[in-house]
Amino acid sequence: MNKKILWDISYGVYVVSSLDKEKPTGCIINTAVQLTENKIGVCINHNNYTNSIIKENKNFALTILSEKTNPDIIATFGFASGREKNKFDGFEYKMFDNLPVLLNSKGYIALKLVQAVELETHTFFIGEIIDGDVFNDEIPMTYKYYHDVIKGRAPKAAPTYIAPEDLNEAKPMGKRFRCKVCGYIYEGDIEKEPPNFVCPVCKQPKSVFEEILYA
Ligand SMILES: Cc1cc2nc3c(=O)[nH]c(=O)nc-3n(C[C@H](O)[C@H](O)[C@H](O)COP(=O)(O)O)c2cc1C
Repeated sequence: MNKKILWDISYGVYVVSSLDKEKPTGCIINTAVQLTENKIGVCINHNNYTNSIIKENKNFALTILSEKTNPDIIATFGFASGREKNKFDGFEYKMFDNLPVLLNSKGYIALKLVQAVELETHTFFIGEIIDGDVFNDEIPMTYKYYHDVIKGRAPKAAPTYIAPEDLNEAKPMGKRFRCKVCGYIYEGDIEKEPPNFVCPVCKQPKSVFEEILYA
């Protein structure tokens, strides 16, 4: 099978957030869909901290990122876990309906959890819309924009993750390195970058890159 066809399903890029007692937390998802007039579904990996917090809090917000959203938001919310840190630290946010919402975004939808469907690896959370607002007229970020313009990839927790060996990509000329955290591909010789070089997508240091060797 050519798994790349799955990347031709159109998605947006979002932060799903909730409140862990006093601490705001959340993660990046692309799997959000409006199911009915007042219901939205999001799909979150069992291992993600956000999954357990939504189950506890029974409320969540869906923040819609825009093409102008700071990519550091994706690095923090998509490649780190709220178990270890407060991901909202350093980003402007406001509480709406007792849910944390990043203001550097297009807007948000607040939801009350009505159903959680357990799949093998993920929980499909269905929420009823209780509130929402549009912050500006920016263009919402699509997953295609994230891939093509920000050159981002998805980590293993994302349903759209495809292992590099399954991609059947043409063998490139010259050196290439892959970020082991987010999958970003660096074209060229990374050794020539200064010691403080960080991955443009997930902000990890040069040391997490490995050379891609083709047989
Ligand atoms: C572009 C992108 C899309 C993602 N989509 C999903 C998704 O739909 N569902 C999911 O569970 N994780 C997805 N992830 C991965 C989570 O955001 C990531 O595992 C995060 O670190 C989990 O944080 P937490 O442990 O604080 O919940 C995605 C990440 C990126 C960068």
